Amino acid sequence: VSKEETRMKEAHTFAMNYYHHLLLNTEEGEKALHYLEERGFSRELIEQYRIGWSLPNWDALTTLLERKGFNLAEMAQSGLLIQKENKNEYFDRFRERIMFPVRDEAGHVIAFSGRVLTTETQDAKYMNSPESPIFQKSKVLYNLDVARPIIRKKHKVIVMEGFMDVMAAAKAGIMNTVATMGTSLTKEHIQKLKRLTDSVILCYDGDGAGLEAAKRASQLLMESKVKTEIAILPDQMDPDDFVQKNGAEAFEKQIIERPHAYLAFMMMVARRNKNFQFENDTLQYVQEVLEHFVGNSSPVERDLYIRQLAKETNISEDAIYQQFRKIEGKNLKQNSRQQAPPVAQNAPISRK
Ligand code: GTP
Ligand code: MN
Ligand code: MN
Ligand code: MN
Ligand code: MN
Repeated sequence: VSKEETRMKEAHTFAMNYYHHLLLNTEEGEKALHYLEERGFSRELIEQYRIGWSLPNWDALTTLLERKGFNLAEMAQSGLLIQKENKNEYFDRFRERIMFPVRDEAGHVIAFSGRVLTTETQDAKYMNSPESPIFQKSKVLYNLDVARPIIRKKHKVIVMEGFMDVMAAAKAGIMNTVATMGTSLTKEHIQKLKRLTDSVILCYDGDGAGLEAAKRASQLLMESKVKTEIAILPDQMDPDDFVQKNGAEAFEKQIIERPHAYLAFMMMVARRNKNFQFENDTLQYVQEVLEHFVGNSSPVERDLYIRQLAKETNISEDAIYQQFRKIEGKNLKQNSRQQAPPVAQNAPISRK
């Protein structure tokens, strides 16, 4: 770890404590504190996650960091400040936002996400720290430092879309939970999780975007040989909304303990916006589902889901099974072609 990175982390810790103090102990922070209380954040949770508030001033943190002897150019690189165009002057990146610290795996603060109090203005709901020497979004999982031992113990990790959801789960006592920082799940995230467990529950928002994100993430996880289940929230709710509305116990019993298997989820997604009165929709649906079966299904699973497909579409199980064989065969051929080393092209024995 370079000296530069150490200083950047020190500055983040300093900023976190400063923002936290503003939230809890000043008049300026009262509105934000009230907002958090309305959203069900207890004093304990606010302190545990060291949530804060940033003033509307342009130079509140800048002045403090300068006084503390931090180099402002370096602080701009760390994401805390922004440099004025063509000038050797700096200002605070985060203003008038609820400040959520983001920690790395060792528990050091490396970034912030700041939320506006009201989404009625033009400002983006969340502002995240930019990429910096200490913060790479494609690698960071929110809460991993706290969740790690519990993931190990439970042999399972729950991945959510938002860090608000992770804190909502914490309210419900569910602690083996992480979130990506506003990006989709990457291979790097998966490699990190694989060191702890080979079983993931995706619990994304119950809207169209969440479903699409869960689809992409689950495909990537399956490719990485991670057992993937998908917990689905009803009625456009996200985990936070659900806990708020129905309570912690319902969230655990009805959502987390009742996830869908990967293939069942894929069938559900494929079924969306399809009408089996239309032949095209029906054929497309069957084809799409069968393509997911290849490489991802056991004979028993195929039997189960092909029965279901037949019932839904009124196509015979036999025909569906034959279609599956055909798709599988095509796939095997393609794969063996891709994997053949260059010398094999001239080899006397055909590989097919
Ligand atoms: P609340 O509305 O406060 O409950 O937040 P949420 O967690 O429900 O957020 P949402 O489902 O809208 O988004 C999920 C995640 O996407 C958030 O945790 C952020 O990381 C990211 N995100 C959402 N909105 C924005 C935005 O306006 N800007 C950026 N940079 N990221 C966002
Ligand atoms: Mn969302
Ligand atoms: Mn959400
Ligand atoms: Mn939410
Ligand atoms: Mn909401």
